[in-house]
Amino acid sequence: MLTLALSKGRIFEETVPLLVAAGIQVTESPESSRKLILPTSDPDLRIVIVRASDVPTYVQYGGADFGIAGKDVLIEHNAEHGDGEGLYEPVDLNIAAARVSVAVPNGFDYAGAVRRGARIRVATKYTAIAREFFGRKGMHVDLIKLYGSMELAPLVGLADAIVDIVSTGGTLRANNLVEVEEIMRISSRLIVNQASLKLKHAQLQPLIDAFRGAVEG
Ligand code: PRP
Repeated sequence: MLTLALSKGRIFEETVPLLVAAGIQVTESPESSRKLILPTSDPDLRIVIVRASDVPTYVQYGGADFGIAGKDVLIEHNAEHGDGEGLYEPVDLNIAAARVSVAVPNGFDYAGAVRRGARIRVATKYTAIAREFFGRKGMHVDLIKLYGSMELAPLVGLADAIVDIVSTGGTLRANNLVEVEEIMRISSRLIVNQASLKLKHAQLQPLIDAFRGAVEG
């Protein structure tokens, strides 16, 4: 039996066509079902539905053989879990593409703050990415860890800036924030438990190849 870890929403929806390309149908949706383990048309493949940030944890520690996770989630996970030892990242699926950026309230002089070497407060869920980025710029920042709705922090005086994911830019615009620096481009990656890759190679490798083929095709 192979176990694939996915999160609800965009990752699940964009993975279904990749599975179809591999000849596998998913018969239930996590939006309509409360089940956490979903069967597929392949009796030897099941899907477990977990929080996006838990996908690398399930795969690294063997709760799932493989999974799909955003590069942002992977970087944050690996920073806290021994550089993701035992996690293999064979394919960039090019789905859920977006960027991680610095954003500030419209009118905040970010460039001036950088030039003056001012110490600014930055709210983010992505503390590892932010720490590395501002460290590389030689900027001193106070990081405030949040778990969601980062856009709110500068609006109520909790922070000067945020580091968050930007896709269409609609959320920033709706909250009168502007993107001032792009930190990195991100997309979702196939991740595989290295022990599973060895022990279940005959079952796993064709699926990895099918995912790669669907992306390249
Ligand atoms: C992300 C991010 C922004 C939004 C950006 O949240 O945190 O809030 O998407 O997208 P946009 O540029 O297209 O408006 P997501 O919806 O992934 O959920 P989250 O808040 O749980 O991270």
